[in-house]
Amino acid sequence: MTGTTTKEHVKNQSSNNNADANATASTTVDIYDLFARRGFLFPGSEMYGGLSGFYDYGPLGAGLRRKLVELWRQECVRNEGYVEIDGSNVLREEVLEASGHVANFGDPITRCKECDEVFRADHLINQEGGGINVEGLPNDEMTRIISEKKIKCSSCGGLLLPVETFPLMFGLSVGARNPVKAYLRPETAQNIFTSFQRVFKAERERMPLGIAQTGRSFRNEISPRQGIIRLREFTQMEIEIFLSPDDLNKHPRWNELSETQVRLLTRDEQKSGKSESEFKELECTASEALASGVIPSQYMAYWIAKETLFYLKIGIPFDKFRFRHLLEDETPFYSTGNFDLEVMTEFGWKETIGNAYRTDHDLSSHAKRSGSKIEVLKDGQKFTPHVFEPSWGLDRMFYCVMEYAYVPKDTDREWAWLRLSPKIAPVTVKVSPLMKRDGLDTIAGTILAELMRAGFDCVHDDSGNVGKRYARADEVGIPYCITVDYQSKEDGTVTIRNRDTMKQVRVKMDHLKETLTDLVEGTKRFEDLGPPIN
Ligand code: GAP
Repeated sequence: MTGTTTKEHVKNQSSNNNADANATASTTVDIYDLFARRGFLFPGSEMYGGLSGFYDYGPLGAGLRRKLVELWRQECVRNEGYVEIDGSNVLREEVLEASGHVANFGDPITRCKECDEVFRADHLINQEGGGINVEGLPNDEMTRIISEKKIKCSSCGGLLLPVETFPLMFGLSVGARNPVKAYLRPETAQNIFTSFQRVFKAERERMPLGIAQTGRSFRNEISPRQGIIRLREFTQMEIEIFLSPDDLNKHPRWNELSETQVRLLTRDEQKSGKSESEFKELECTASEALASGVIPSQYMAYWIAKETLFYLKIGIPFDKFRFRHLLEDETPFYSTGNFDLEVMTEFGWKETIGNAYRTDHDLSSHAKRSGSKIEVLKDGQKFTPHVFEPSWGLDRMFYCVMEYAYVPKDTDREWAWLRLSPKIAPVTVKVSPLMKRDGLDTIAGTILAELMRAGFDCVHDDSGNVGKRYARADEVGIPYCITVDYQSKEDGTVTIRNRDTMKQVRVKMDHLKETLTDLVEGTKRFEDLGPPIN
């Protein structure tokens, strides 16, 4: 095979000219090695050397993504009474002019006069200028800082040119005759805004109305890096919640989550003059944070609590993520206040969710640009709906889940394994016959077929010895292994092995579907199934 391996790819990307690209920790390299070997993910166009910022997900990766999306759909869309759309990846230029992306959506870059290397200016200043944060500063201000701090090209030491804005959207020309200018969408949110009027009518004009969408977004990132952390094509799971501005502090289900413990990095803490490593997160309930004004609205507090519970469920420990209140000059151009969910990774703190109060910016801009009126009537009042937006990134969440699930070789067994929650493990159960003869293989085949029919994600494995099969299952995070042995023929029981404890119990074959459902849903603990066997 030509081109770099996934392992080299991640190593190369992380040692690029980026401020936050510390040398890749060995765990990450091992994880990417596992990704490639076991078919989680690998660089796109890999046979031809790869294409930076694009990845292909293999069967296990696609399975894990599907489970994460399904959990989000269940908890954040269906459970909230929201609806989902599936919009086009291509948007007319007018849509993105109205949204402000054509004018504003770019990153500051500086080029080396000598070798033409390109740097993200704010990252370079952060890296070379002693950790200062200049995100959001005007280009001429960054140019001044580069010159004042005598920052040079980190590749060749050459002079750097004035900072300019590099547009992040991929432009398209649609059609052969009178081509129409369009873009690959930079966020899934915009289709939701342009479909609002139709969905609102179809949904019998209810308010608040949450419209969700999951799909691909595209950004021509200057330096895609750190594997799937910064991609040029990535998947977002976004919800735009349309509501009256008067209802921002009236979330209909606030009471259910108000006492959830949350972890926040306040603006005051960030402005305290301490260094990043000295910041202390505030831990309190969502209602305390709301009452003290740290979180500005009930909707924001509700979603911070909701995301906290979701992240715990997918295996990210409470003290390894936080909600950072973005400083005024980092807040996106359309938002009046953002809290980002950030996870501590081997690459440092990484944003995986952006929560924004987008006001009526989008609907009003689209109404103005298209000449259509976007107003709703509620309690005798006409208004343009405001928007609260929880915007999740699937690829970053995927990486964080894997980093926290990964247990290196020799920690508690002689092989590396994945401690994935049974709810999201791409494969839930492996079925094996102890021997490929004496009818054991036939019984295993019947069990497999029944479990598959019942909707479980299963695999069959009859190669090598049982120990090797368990090790292979552990390596890809399969939580339960069922083995059909000679006793199965006598008493209709099989062994079931728990990945996390490596303990086994005997259970009735006839009850497997119920037993597995209980284990995955958490309504029964493995220990409650019976005494462990050797
Ligand atoms: N509609 C709002 C919006 O798009 P964002 O903060 O730019 O906000 C939301 O993106 C989420 O999408 C991020 O928190 C991140 O998880 C994901 N994301 C953004 N850019 C990404 C990239 N280049 N590669 C991978 N994920 C990305």
